[in-house]
Amino acid sequence: MERVICLRSDTVTTPSPAMRKAMAEAEVGDDYYNADPTIHRLEAKAAEMLGKEAAILVLSGTMGNLTSIMAQANRGESMIVEETAHIFVNEGGGMAAVAGVMPRTLKGKNGFIEPDQLEKAIFPTSVLHPPTRLVCLENTHNVAGGRCLSIERTAALCRVAHKAGAKVHLDGARIFNAAIALRVPASALVKDVDSIQFCLSKGLGCPAGSIVAGSRELVTRVRHMRQLVGGGMRQGGVFAAAGIVGLDTMVERLEEDHANAKRLARHCADAGMPVNANDVETNMVFVELPDLPFDPPRFVRELREGGVEINPPKGRRIRFVTHYQTSAADIDKAGGIIKRVYQRNVQQGGIREAASA
Ligand SMILES: Cc1ncc(COP(=O)(O)O)c(C=O)c1O
Repeated sequence: MERVICLRSDTVTTPSPAMRKAMAEAEVGDDYYNADPTIHRLEAKAAEMLGKEAAILVLSGTMGNLTSIMAQANRGESMIVEETAHIFVNEGGGMAAVAGVMPRTLKGKNGFIEPDQLEKAIFPTSVLHPPTRLVCLENTHNVAGGRCLSIERTAALCRVAHKAGAKVHLDGARIFNAAIALRVPASALVKDVDSIQFCLSKGLGCPAGSIVAGSRELVTRVRHMRQLVGGGMRQGGVFAAAGIVGLDTMVERLEEDHANAKRLARHCADAGMPVNANDVETNMVFVELPDLPFDPPRFVRELREGGVEINPPKGRRIRFVTHYQTSAADIDKAGGIIKRVYQRNVQQGGIREAASA
C-alpha cells in the first residue's frame, strides 16, 4: 500500500535512528532522587541554549505551561492571554481548573497583542480586582499560522508587564522554529521573559518531553508544581536522551521544514486555493476553504483517500504542517494530490457555476 503523507502536525514525527540509539544506551537513575545524569545533561544543555539559569524536563508542553502558571500566579489571581493562544484554547482549561488562575483574554492581530493593548488590560491594584500576576505569550503562534514574535515585540510586551509587576511566561512550544525563521538565537527571543516552555516532541522529533527554563528560583517552584500534578519521573533519562539528540541535530534542519511549507503553499496557490506563500513564516500552512457548497469535511476525507492526511477542518479552516519526515519530494507529491482533489471538489461543489451565473 502507498505511504500516506501525514501533514497533521509536527507531533507525528517518530524518533530518528540516532535518538533510538541514544535512548537504548542512556545512562539513567531515579529522578525523584535527582539522580538521572541524562536528565541533568539535557536540562543543563537547554538552559545554556536559552541563556537561562536553570531548566527542568516536564512530560509535555501542556504540563510545562500549567506548572509555569502555577509557579507564578496564585489561585484567584489573573493572567492575560491572547484569545486564540494554545494555553487558553487547547490545554483543557488547566489554568482555571487546576491553577485556579483567571484568564483575561485579548484579541490579537495575527495572534499577537500590542503593548498598549496589554497596558490597558492590566488590572490596577484595587480591592476589586484579581491581581494581574502573569502575561502569557506564544512563539511561534500556532493558530495564527506558525507566525513569529520578534525580539523587539517580546521586549516591549515584557516591559509593560514588568512595569506593572506582572511576570511573563512564553509558550515557546516551537521557539526554535521562530529562532531559525528570524535568524536569531533562541536565547535572544526569550531574554526578557521570566519563564519559557518549549517542546522536544514537535519539530525536534522526540517521542515526549518539554523544557521549562528561567531563574533557579522559578525552576525550583516549577519542580514542586510538576510533583503536584504527578509529573515527577523515575528513569526519564530514557527519553531525555532523545531530547539531547534533538537539540544537537534537529534545530538547524527546521529551515528545511519552513522551505517545504512555503513549497506546499505555492502548490496550494497553484491549485487555486486562497493562500499566499509569503504569509508562511515557519512550518504551517493554513487555508480558509471557499464558502458553501464546498464541503470541508468531504475535502479532507478525499485528501486522505488520495494519500494526504491532515486534521479535521475547524469550520472552513484547514492546516498543513511540515516536519522532518516529509521531504521536498513528498511535498511535491502531496501538492499534486491536493490540486486534484481540490479542483474536483470545487467543480462538483458548483463554485465555478455559481461564480459565472
Ligand atoms: C503552541 C503550543 N503550545 C503548547 C502545546 C502543548 O504541547 P503538548 O502537546 O506537548 O502538551 C502545543 C501542542 O501542540 C502547541 O502547539
